[in-house]
Amino acid sequence: SSHIHLGFSLSLLCSVELNRGGLNAGMTEFQEKLRQQHENSMHQELEKLLSTTKGVENSRKDFEGFKHLFHRFLQVKGPSVDWAKINRPPEDSIQPYERIHAKGLPEAIAASLNKLAVVKLNGGLGTSMGCKGPKSLISVRNENTFLDLTVQQIEHLNKTYSADVPLVLMNSFNTDEDTKKILQKYTHHRVKIHTFNQSRYPRINKESLLPVATNMGLIGENGEAWYPPGHGDIYTSFCNSGLLDKLLSEGKEYIFVSNIDNLGATVDLHILNHLMSQPADKRCEFVMEVTDKTRADVKGGTLIQYDNKLRLLEIAQVPKAHVDEFKSVTKFKIFNTNNLWISLPAIKRLHEQNTLDMEIIVNPKTLDGGLNVIQLETAVGAAIKCFDNALGINVPRSRFLPVKTTSDLLLVMSNLYSLEAGSLTMSEKREFPTTPHVKLGSSFTKVQDFLRRFESIPDMLELDHLTVSGDVTFGKQVALKGTVIIIANHGDRIDIPAGAMLENKIVSGNLRILDH
Ligand SMILES: *[C@@H]1O[C@H](CO)[C@@H](O)[C@H](O)[C@H]1NC(C)=O
Ligand SMILES: *[C@@H]1O[C@H](CO)[C@@H](O)[C@H](O)[C@H]1NC(C)=O
Repeated sequence: SSHIHLGFSLSLLCSVELNRGGLNAGMTEFQEKLRQQHENSMHQELEKLLSTTKGVENSRKDFEGFKHLFHRFLQVKGPSVDWAKINRPPEDSIQPYERIHAKGLPEAIAASLNKLAVVKLNGGLGTSMGCKGPKSLISVRNENTFLDLTVQQIEHLNKTYSADVPLVLMNSFNTDEDTKKILQKYTHHRVKIHTFNQSRYPRINKESLLPVATNMGLIGENGEAWYPPGHGDIYTSFCNSGLLDKLLSEGKEYIFVSNIDNLGATVDLHILNHLMSQPADKRCEFVMEVTDKTRADVKGGTLIQYDNKLRLLEIAQVPKAHVDEFKSVTKFKIFNTNNLWISLPAIKRLHEQNTLDMEIIVNPKTLDGGLNVIQLETAVGAAIKCFDNALGINVPRSRFLPVKTTSDLLLVMSNLYSLEAGSLTMSEKREFPTTPHVKLGSSFTKVQDFLRRFESIPDMLELDHLTVSGDVTFGKQVALKGTVIIIANHGDRIDIPAGAMLENKIVSGNLRILDH
């Protein structure tokens, strides 16, 4: 769990006086001296690290970004939003998708597609689902991985519209090597794939505020000393990699950015067309796809009007007294899907002006050895306030289909969805538009265990709610309908027999099926 940096936590700095005003205001001379000391020590340590190996040009660039972030971390005080200044976004700054859709598509949509590149955030590992290596390489449907599905989607665009839409993967040092090995299998596909690395930043000892790393290597304990600094890093590392300039020179104007584990994040031609048909002087530089909040997503970031700009408000930025208000589904009705459409020339301009400003997320961690560290991160959507004519589009829920857990995986593997050209669509046989609520217990957390426990994926077309806990297995061709709760207490085991149909049932106790 992470939280936004609300006030500089070092006790010495805070003990003097806690100023809740703007940046820097009221920082005493003493505090300023301390801050300087921390910053200088950090810079010295970074130089020492660089001197441990040769050929560190990329790392030097990374460290420039890190220094900037660390500087802001030491300086920023007080909550980053003043609750009284928050306004509801003006009517036309969050448009319903239906209005965008109603405009229809022009003949020349291929020309618009040729100005687009698709960027997938591919820095994450599959650890939380019990998998080694990049998350994008986990199989999600018919042996297809997240990456396979993405490639199929883009290839489909090429085939249908004869359009050239490149795929760009933002890798991290954790995922780059394994991803590149896999990319070879797409050489004969009709899709151009580019990759770039996001930065590698040093984790900071929570007490000393100095790097944990003893050298630049990633081997052994020292491997734990580094982290990829969140997807807000995309702007800097995309520019630094040279790829942004390359795409601009090929006539690309927008990128569509999304998490690689969001299977609903397909290229939407209507949104693309909306962007491309704006008059040049009113070009919308940033679109955030938002969707209606349900009780399951009360923690998601939302859009507010602040200082005359659209701004992303995350729960961690909310003063404690207003957290319940923030979570309410009636006051803040929508949340960020992290599907973003961003103007490439605008990124370049803001990067060159050095005016991309994103709230710092301080993510505390405990390393294997027990050491408490913090890592400073930023989120890509937080930059929305820096762009001109930013817009929210309230899209259907189907564009937000993240697979974070095996419960999500069960849904996307089931007959609730059908797969076509790499895209999942809700089956027409389902009579309600909502997805069932699925909660699988800890025996299902790892993908391997999950797969072992289902001989085949149950029929879920009429399911509303499923809770499974304990040592439970499912035979072939089980059907689940309505609300089904299956609970095997400690020491018990429940095998749901092949062909069983459970409708509005609670199953508990012991139910063994033995081979004979
Ligand atoms: C990206 O990171 C990997 C892992 O650290 C490294 O091997 C590779 O050379 C990097 N690529 C570039 C272009 O810097
Ligand atoms: C996409 O399609 C066009 C037209 O069929 C083709 O010329 C182009 O090379 C294709 N792009 C890729 C990357 O294969």
